[in-house]
Amino acid sequence: MRELDRAHGTGGNHLYYLATPPTLYSGIIQQIGAAGLNHASQGGWVRIVIEKPYGRDLATAQALNRLVAEVFQEEQVYRIDHYLGKETVQNILFFRFANAIFEPIWNRRYIDHVQITVAEEVGVERRAGYYEGTGALRDIFQNHLLQLLCLAAMEPPAGFEADRVRDEKTKVLRSLRPLAPEALNRCAVRGQYAPGIIQGREVGGYRSEPGVANGSSTETFAAVKLSVANWRWQGVPFYLRSGKRLARQAAEIAVEFKRVPHLLFQPLMTEAIQPNTLVFAIQPEEGISLTFQAKHPGPKLCMGTVTMDFSYRGAFKIPSPEAYERLLLDCMAGDQTLFARRDWVDHSWAFLAPLLEHWEATPPAFPDYPAGSWGPKEADTLLERDGRRWRRL
Ligand code: BG6
Repeated sequence: MRELDRAHGTGGNHLYYLATPPTLYSGIIQQIGAAGLNHASQGGWVRIVIEKPYGRDLATAQALNRLVAEVFQEEQVYRIDHYLGKETVQNILFFRFANAIFEPIWNRRYIDHVQITVAEEVGVERRAGYYEGTGALRDIFQNHLLQLLCLAAMEPPAGFEADRVRDEKTKVLRSLRPLAPEALNRCAVRGQYAPGIIQGREVGGYRSEPGVANGSSTETFAAVKLSVANWRWQGVPFYLRSGKRLARQAAEIAVEFKRVPHLLFQPLMTEAIQPNTLVFAIQPEEGISLTFQAKHPGPKLCMGTVTMDFSYRGAFKIPSPEAYERLLLDCMAGDQTLFARRDWVDHSWAFLAPLLEHWEATPPAFPDYPAGSWGPKEADTLLERDGRRWRRL
């Protein structure tokens, strides 16, 4: 390392990047500590980037956090979540807090509910070795989906410094109403893909993927209804879903506003008109859209839903950088804003713990959704019980 420092003039700065199997994390961290490579020499800095999965439950995440804290100061630790490096995800904060018109309506008085989706067309691919013991809840919910939830639901921080932003995000997790053991079957749904058709092509089921056990009970789909129990969000459900081998790739946050309280355009009924929906499209499209009602041209009293669209590509005409490029640059610049803090990780696992345990203890009836669909029927029921529907993507 000394030779490399000399050859490249790195000023003694060292960034360790644990993009390794998670079983190696503790050994590597201990050895870095034992060799004294956790401290900067010659006035540079030493930082460590830790990939997901960060633990597989609360106990293992806490154990990893303790070990990390024995060797590094929290200011040196960068727990990476590549969703936070996506332009559109960062833009949620700019949209909410750099515009004056949205914050006044960003609450229970105007918002009916929020849907957050991370849908993938791909299956488990060649990653069964990792995914078999993981499943959708650990792979996507604990990190990407809860991060998106925090950005949508957090209070405005007083400044854009890393810890002010991260304080507010952690507060969202601390405000989540715990998943009550007796209600788990009503507020959460899991699934696993069977053979099906995606984009006109036949694809196999999860259990026939290389490296997957015949009777695997790993979920490849999960949907959870949760509540942020605070002044702003009381009574506004957040519906989160993620799955592999779904009908199409799409990641978005959709904020559905309340319906108009009274419709003066008789004989049209309030139910006949769609509520305004604001969508943060994360991928594959990157942008923001707002739907609203407009009158159809002509003498008849008739209206339709139209969309106001902002597209990143169209507006800025430059491609967005890769999420990892941005995040690794932030590590080098010493900016932790877009990285998970220790307490955030603990709270995320603590929130999911009852569900993880419940699912582990109850054998599922898998497979239960064909590849190319939008997941098991029960996922639809989750919203239908509340008189709502998943958005058609
Ligand atoms: C990773 C998960 O964190 O995110 C994968 O481990 C998933 O299972 C991937 O496919 C999705 O990322 P993206 O950027 O393609 O939405």
